[in-house]
Amino acid sequence: MKDDSSYHIREYKPEDESGWLRCRVLAFLDTSYFDDVYPKKERYESPAIELVAESDGIIVGLIDVECEEKPGSICSPSNSLDDHLAGMIWHLAVHPDYRRIGIATGLIDEAVRRARDIDIERFEAWTRDDVITRKWYGSQGFKLVQSYYHVYLKLSDMETAGICSNSELKPYKVFAHYLGEDREFLSQFSRVHECVRFDLILNSIGK
Ligand SMILES: CC(C)(COP(=O)(O)OP(=O)(O)OC[C@H]1O[C@@H](n2cnc3c(N)ncnc32)[C@H](O)[C@@H]1OP(=O)(O)O)[C@@H](O)C(=O)NCCC(=O)NCCS
Repeated sequence: MKDDSSYHIREYKPEDESGWLRCRVLAFLDTSYFDDVYPKKERYESPAIELVAESDGIIVGLIDVECEEKPGSICSPSNSLDDHLAGMIWHLAVHPDYRRIGIATGLIDEAVRRARDIDIERFEAWTRDDVITRKWYGSQGFKLVQSYYHVYLKLSDMETAGICSNSELKPYKVFAHYLGEDREFLSQFSRVHECVRFDLILNSIGK
């Protein structure tokens, strides 16, 4: 059993890339993002908070937050906070063998601390319908503010969805965003995920 003394949190370094990618793939294998695989880690145009948790030389947790220098340049509109800077959590993942010992909490706490130093007032994150992940966001004070649907269409779904093909270019699998409210329409498709936005107002929780 791992405990909370078996890891430490530090900044990501370029030489962490393969360990970062492995940790991310393993972390998402038991989630609805199981096939969302990256062969390279992104580089960000805006300043980013990129942290990892390391245990015995292995990357066991990670967080990437890209931070706005101009309000609205990266994150979604947020009514009363539209004039304020926000940070987008592009990646947050903990290795399955190191879960529930506070690694993700440690990563977000450190990210919040660094974000405040550069005047970020809100974090935004998007995730799907995984119960554990939603519980985790709730446990950290994030609020669910918006949702839409991710739909994966197989060949047999194309006609139902009204997707045409010409004689040479034939869609075989399609990934689509559904912005409507018709659950009955969605029930025709075998793989549908609700995609939800969580916001954390940094000043409201005293982290
Ligand atoms: C969500 C995730 C990042 C949480 O990481 P973690 O390090 O295990 O989380 P923590 O140890 O910080 O958990 C803090 C709290 O979150 C909640 N929580 C976390 N895992 C939970 C679980 N399996 N069941 C119920 N609640 C859970 C609990 O309230 C927990 O506090 P507690 O242990 O004192 O009860 C991790 O499960 C993960 O990597 N999931 C897959 C990737 C993912 O969904 N990333 C999210 C962005 S898309």
